[in-house]
Amino acid sequence: MKKIFIALAFWVCSSSIFAQNEYNIIPIPQKLEAQSGVFTVNEKTVVVGNSTWQEVAELLNTQLNNAGGWRKKIVINSSKKINNSIQFIQNERIAEEGYILEVSQKQVVISSKTAKGAFYGVQTLLQLLPTEIFKDSKSEGVKWTIPCCKIEDAPRYSYRGLHLDVARHFSPVSFIKKYIDLLALHKFNTFHWHLTDDQGWRIEIKKYPKLTEISSKRKETLIGRDRKTPKYDGKEYSGFYTQEEVKDVVAYAQKRFITIIPEIEMPGHAQAVLAAYPEFGCNQDKIYDVWTSWGVSKDVFCPREETFTFLENVLSEVIALFPSQYIHIGGDECPKDQWKTSRFCQDLMKREGLKDEHELQSYFIRRIDKFVTSKGRKIIGWDEILEGGISPNATIMSWRGEAGGIAAAKENHDVIMTPDRFVYLDYFQSGLKTDSMNVGIYLPIEKVYSYDPAPKELSEEQQKKIIGFQGNVWTEYMSNTDRIEYMVYPRASAIAETAWSPKSAKNFADFEKRLKTHAKRLDNLKVNYFKGFLGDKK
Ligand code: ACM
Repeated sequence: MKKIFIALAFWVCSSSIFAQNEYNIIPIPQKLEAQSGVFTVNEKTVVVGNSTWQEVAELLNTQLNNAGGWRKKIVINSSKKINNSIQFIQNERIAEEGYILEVSQKQVVISSKTAKGAFYGVQTLLQLLPTEIFKDSKSEGVKWTIPCCKIEDAPRYSYRGLHLDVARHFSPVSFIKKYIDLLALHKFNTFHWHLTDDQGWRIEIKKYPKLTEISSKRKETLIGRDRKTPKYDGKEYSGFYTQEEVKDVVAYAQKRFITIIPEIEMPGHAQAVLAAYPEFGCNQDKIYDVWTSWGVSKDVFCPREETFTFLENVLSEVIALFPSQYIHIGGDECPKDQWKTSRFCQDLMKREGLKDEHELQSYFIRRIDKFVTSKGRKIIGWDEILEGGISPNATIMSWRGEAGGIAAAKENHDVIMTPDRFVYLDYFQSGLKTDSMNVGIYLPIEKVYSYDPAPKELSEEQQKKIIGFQGNVWTEYMSNTDRIEYMVYPRASAIAETAWSPKSAKNFADFEKRLKTHAKRLDNLKVNYFKGFLGDKK
């Protein structure tokens, strides 16, 4: 009887301790061993850095100091274990982006091979603390406890991306930094910056000042969605990033282990360029304007030598600004109408033995590929660049479903999956009236979460060519940053989990439960996320 009582008491006690310990981490780690008890961060806790990733220790220390109202300094490179510390330790045996996080009542240890792994360990640690850790000022009366556990974690995909279109609507640098912070929180490692399109050019290019004087401004913008009997708002719309701003953003992202991939669109989506430099179009006498409507413009680059010189000069400046291995050259939605009627294009096709305009597009991309490759970088293109023959060094972003990605993987090309029906965050997520100004299909978070980027049509070997997964954010109907946040979160949290976590660990009901805590983090970070998933779906 006594034994039963003790056993029962132990069970009640330990289960209640476990009940207090919650691990609401997004994306869910590969392996989590729950333990009883907590580690408490207080004014005496020291962050023990490691000289090779001092900056990561500093980022953690700053966040702890902000939330706790402390002025603690980090300690560097102690090889001994120290009580009441959060200590970084290098361990060569851990995967490149992986980490092991051990939380005991005495100490927290983050082991990793790289600074990047240490950074991801910190992201997990922050999510184990009370959600007030994400406030930018001191929180009174919070006990800074971390539930004991051992976590071993590493990502499923090496490329984990989120895109943002700043051409249709421009986002200021301050918002881009917030966007990057949120990427880091979710262990994304790539920000795909869509910088140019028919409706605006958004990056300073020193050699071509008219790109910012003319191409970055449109006279007005279509109101609503009606393109047949269009009404315009009559207000000039403009914006671009100076090269100094770009450098600042790139450095900011690097500190958070985010690579920025710039996208310069070609040969389509070029109308804004042609408004400033009509000589690069097929109809050189035409007066082009920066487009004031949405859709796919027929005004595209003409594959003349002068156009290639222009694009190579632009890309040279872009390459100098962005250290990314990849440069995105667009390649999507290039209507061939003007190429079909252009004497120059038809003659070029004959000279080069190109059988149709798709092959002309392929010729265009191959030339750009050769140039970018000669600079030691690699191109990424949307899946249309498969048409007419894929360029030798290209990585494919499969957006029109998975077919392009499957075909490219079979041809031994690297692929990033971003199928619109699952990850286009401009598609609507609720039936709310305020959501009516969107495009595409109904794409609730469950559907985003349900996607698996490894198509069954590919063999295990071919599936290795799927290097990553990305969500896309087109901003025709997102005219301000609140709206962007509303459309992006929390669906991007679901994308992050698919990109990072093993397939076997994914479970929507469990994700939804963790999302309730995650929502508080987003509240503290002042993110205007969609709350429909909290039961407010109409
Ligand atoms: C795309 O959505 N046009 C890539």
